[in-house]
Amino acid sequence: SVTRAHLTLHPAFRVGDVDRRLFGGFVEHLGRHIYDGIHEPGHPTAGPDGFRRDVIELVKELGVTAIRYPGGNFVSAYRWEDGVGPVAERPRRLDLAWHSTETNLVGLHEFQEWLDLVGSELMLAVNLGTRGLQEALELVEYANVPSGTARADRRRANGREEPFGVRMWCLGNEMDGPWQVGHRDAGDYGKLASQVAKAMRLVDNRLQLVVCGSSGRGMPTFGSWERTVLEHTYDDVDYISCHAYYQETDGDLASFLASGVDMDAFIDEVVATADHVRAVKRSGKRIQISFDEWNVWYMSRWNAQEGTHTIDDWPVAPRLLEDVYSVADAVTVGGLLISLLNHADRVTSASLAQLVNVIAPIMTEPGGPAWRQTTFFPFSLTSKAARGTALAVTLDAGTVTTARYGEVPVVAAAATTDGGTVQLFLQNRDTTAPTTVTVDLRAFAGLTSASATGIWDDDPYAVNSLTEPDRVAPRTNDTARLDDGVLTVTLPPVSWTTVAVA
Ligand code: AHR
Repeated sequence: SVTRAHLTLHPAFRVGDVDRRLFGGFVEHLGRHIYDGIHEPGHPTAGPDGFRRDVIELVKELGVTAIRYPGGNFVSAYRWEDGVGPVAERPRRLDLAWHSTETNLVGLHEFQEWLDLVGSELMLAVNLGTRGLQEALELVEYANVPSGTARADRRRANGREEPFGVRMWCLGNEMDGPWQVGHRDAGDYGKLASQVAKAMRLVDNRLQLVVCGSSGRGMPTFGSWERTVLEHTYDDVDYISCHAYYQETDGDLASFLASGVDMDAFIDEVVATADHVRAVKRSGKRIQISFDEWNVWYMSRWNAQEGTHTIDDWPVAPRLLEDVYSVADAVTVGGLLISLLNHADRVTSASLAQLVNVIAPIMTEPGGPAWRQTTFFPFSLTSKAARGTALAVTLDAGTVTTARYGEVPVVAAAATTDGGTVQLFLQNRDTTAPTTVTVDLRAFAGLTSASATGIWDDDPYAVNSLTEPDRVAPRTNDTARLDDGVLTVTLPPVSWTTVAVA
């Protein structure tokens, strides 16, 4: 049987403008992300800089806007100075986060050169684990001061005449997590982050600063962490971070597909906490959310030793966290993108974690091809299509029952408009039945056509792989019709669809 859902949209009912930084990514020195991923000298497609051109083309196609770097857990014991200057003189270091050897063949300069090739903005994290105020200041000076100071001139001597001009900075990473090197309690971290933020702004007052929120909504201190940290830093920062990873457990596909329900609640709770601190402080400023780690993650092969760290084994670029994604994973990623769009007024930066090989939409084989995982498609299609303003969606839909979230709407929906066209993003959470959606668009003038593209498959666990890289790809949904301003489209079970109405 076919389930039904009805949406109403009006150009006057808006959530907010969609910030292009909502379609950011994340590149960490981790496993085969950098080395044997984006950087593989000797690969047939690599340029003289060692960067694989086939990967660059896929990253461009994915449409990632800002990229968070260099971690993640990695940053909490990283010395940025190790990654600048003559490559032959760079030290090899122990990477405490992933129990690997960091060669430092790629550092700030190389990564910026790669970003210039892919056309994305750098979002830089400072180490507040093993380091602190002094190093953060030195890094801002090195990166952003044009010339005439020791570190700016060192940057120029290292080959970069113009400053990097990095605008967006993360004040550490997941500092609430006991796994984090140098983790702290909320009060200690809040005081440190406030001092570091104030000092960094003395060097460059154009910085946009992200303070660490909880590393997950399930953390024991979630909520109180945000409140305490913001009480210390409210006037000093622009964003607070959210991190969330989802996975299908025990075959509970219905709950998994509804992960956006959890993301919605997470965002609403952090916004409420931030606005509470704002009210107490009588501040005129609103803190935004940087959802700078989100994805589906099965935590496969956590570290090279699978938990048994030995002093004599620190591999270079081991295969870590190389999750293989199914159609159901892609449909869930599409649902999470819908949640982000529906909060476009407060979530103005987000980073899909991560980008290549590690929890990634793009995979590579050393010496071989690069390919798109299933999760590539909802991201690339949304990044391309979601332009202009996010619209408030009024949804009248049946429900599905989930073990984790109870009754949830069978359809998740978001919409954007650039003035002329309307773009819809729809997820069918029904695991067995199609859902027919009608959308009342009569308030929008001049719409005459509708075309729909999406991800679904008879086998929701179908994947792309080295041997079958194109098994899953976007498909045209030819049920979309526009009659007298009312759109009708039928969504297959376990599907994600975007509809362009022009
Ligand atoms: O993305 C993988 C890891 O997940 C990041 O390094 C860390 O910040 C988070 O716990």
